Amino acid sequence: MAAPLGLQDLSADAVRALLQTRTLGWALHILEETDSTNTAALALAQQGAGHGTVLAADRQTAGRGRLGRHWFSPPGENLYCSVILRRTPPGDHRWDDLSWLPLISAVAAAHAIRKVAGLHPSLKWPNDILVGERKVGGILCEGGGASSQNVYVVVGIGINVNTRRESFPEDLRSLATSLRSATDRQVNRAALLAGWLAELEARSDALLAGRLKELGLEYEALCSTLGRRVRVNLAGGQVVEGRADSLGPDGSLRVSPEAEPAGTLVEIRVGDVVHLR
Ligand code: BTN
Repeated sequence: MAAPLGLQDLSADAVRALLQTRTLGWALHILEETDSTNTAALALAQQGAGHGTVLAADRQTAGRGRLGRHWFSPPGENLYCSVILRRTPPGDHRWDDLSWLPLISAVAAAHAIRKVAGLHPSLKWPNDILVGERKVGGILCEGGGASSQNVYVVVGIGINVNTRRESFPEDLRSLATSLRSATDRQVNRAALLAGWLAELEARSDALLAGRLKELGLEYEALCSTLGRRVRVNLAGGQVVEGRADSLGPDGSLRVSPEAEPAGTLVEIRVGDVVHLR
């Protein structure tokens, strides 16, 4: 049986030795424990931390998921990390494309996982990273900054890396998986983090360069939601059931509802998607 990895596979030295980025991750904080790396990174950004600053932790005591959910964050096993991205000059129209950021961050994760663990994840809209039908990771993007001179986005990623199947809480066991469960091998967290940052930098550069078409095609190629029957739970308790048809220009999901006349499309910007059979 392999020995536990502990924090040694996620030291700042180990990550820096593998970094291939221009800016992301060179300012790097790795903590043993924090409540949430997103909360800590938002505080750092508020204090002026620069573009590309990364904060990762071995364990989170209050890890947060999308839609107010809790993120399972045990020590010594998984990746919990947040990156601060700062806006381009004030008023820059390229900031308008930011709705794509969660989607391209998930694409970056899928490619990093493929390279580091040899798996081929798919993406459930908007940014769940799946191996088979089970969730292996997710993205939580949060914005901040009171003045137009100090606007930033924190991109948080959680990946279940080395959690054993039997160690997931009962309610997650049928829904979640880890890279280790899927490959039967321990995966190095520093390699995964460095790999994700490199993939993310390439795609955030492409976003700033306005290469939305290319990014959209790349997302579609990985997205297992498109073409499927889905149920979407919207804020306020509304539910839409139908076929996931396409992406809107802002990365929204267009669903053709079963209850509506053919050709009607509902555009979804925020919601919880369930893949139906
Ligand atoms: C989701 O799929 O619901 C998003 C999960 C995001 C979890 C990560 S773990 C690191 C960062 N800090 C947090 O509190 N959340 C994100």
